[in-house]
Amino acid sequence: MSDKTARIKVAIQKSGRLTEQSLDLLQRCGLKYTKGPDQLIAFGENMPVDVLLVRDDDIPGLVRDDVCDLGIAGLNIVEEKRLHFLEQEPAEPFRIIRALDYGQCRLAFAYPDGSPLRTVADLAGRRIATSYPSIVRDYLRRQNLSATVVEFSGAVEIAPSLGRADAICDLVSTGATLVANKLREGETILESRAVILQTPVEVPPEKADWINRLLQRVEGVMQVRESKYIMMHAPKAALAKIAALLPGSEAPTVLPLDGRDDLVAVHVVCRENVFWETLESLKAAGATSLLVLPVEKMLA
Ligand code: PRP
Ligand code: ZN
Repeated sequence: MSDKTARIKVAIQKSGRLTEQSLDLLQRCGLKYTKGPDQLIAFGENMPVDVLLVRDDDIPGLVRDDVCDLGIAGLNIVEEKRLHFLEQEPAEPFRIIRALDYGQCRLAFAYPDGSPLRTVADLAGRRIATSYPSIVRDYLRRQNLSATVVEFSGAVEIAPSLGRADAICDLVSTGATLVANKLREGETILESRAVILQTPVEVPPEKADWINRLLQRVEGVMQVRESKYIMMHAPKAALAKIAALLPGSEAPTVLPLDGRDDLVAVHVVCRENVFWETLESLKAAGATSLLVLPVEKMLA
């Protein structure tokens, strides 16, 4: 652990929509850290893992160049850089090893309100403003469409009103930015979420071991996040029907209820999120006293 080269470096976004959840994920994996004076590196205290806080655009390159062993970034940035690197050199620049459960958004076309443009087919010969030129060009190529891609590094949504473009292709999360800029959302070309990247270079065994442990803990964290412990009372006659309604569950525990021959208590772990609709269906099937509890830790 004292050998500096054996420490794993993980690059994450310095400040942005993935920062808080990426740090939270690493903490839930057991990492305790102290931030350096410049706040750009967080040194792991209890694991040989250091976290580099960088601009998200830089993450794919840092992993490709093996400066960092792992990186967490949005698939939007990752795919953009992957296509860009592939244009320079035809070898996969990094491995995308895990999709995470946060940072969901989409890369979509958008057209100015009142514009005659309605679909991508209308974009032939037009100008499209975007911060994702490689993804957009690749998409246009596959659609056999020829259009001009105008690169913007930010504030893409103002390009049409500046007269710089006829349409845009940008990230959409809530859609509020599009509405505020009088743009109408069109086709999605990429569904994005946070992903973990790994260096293309083979890692030495002592590092590989910790990387595997870290990834196993990530699995555990994600599983627990989705898991719920459900308790209810159920008529014995409806047990089969109720069991079939439980999402991603194993065999339920069925317990007798004192003084009731017709009714039992059912306890079960569901490995999927439990929505109100599920509870309503369970109730309709005869279940009562429904309780849904979060799961703290799980070791299968
Ligand atoms: C993205 C995107 C839009 C906005 C969309 O920018 O470029 O501006 O979010 O979100 P909404 O649909 O919820 O309104 P981001 O905040 O990631 O900043 P950036 O453009 O500087 O990367
Ligand atoms: Zn933006």
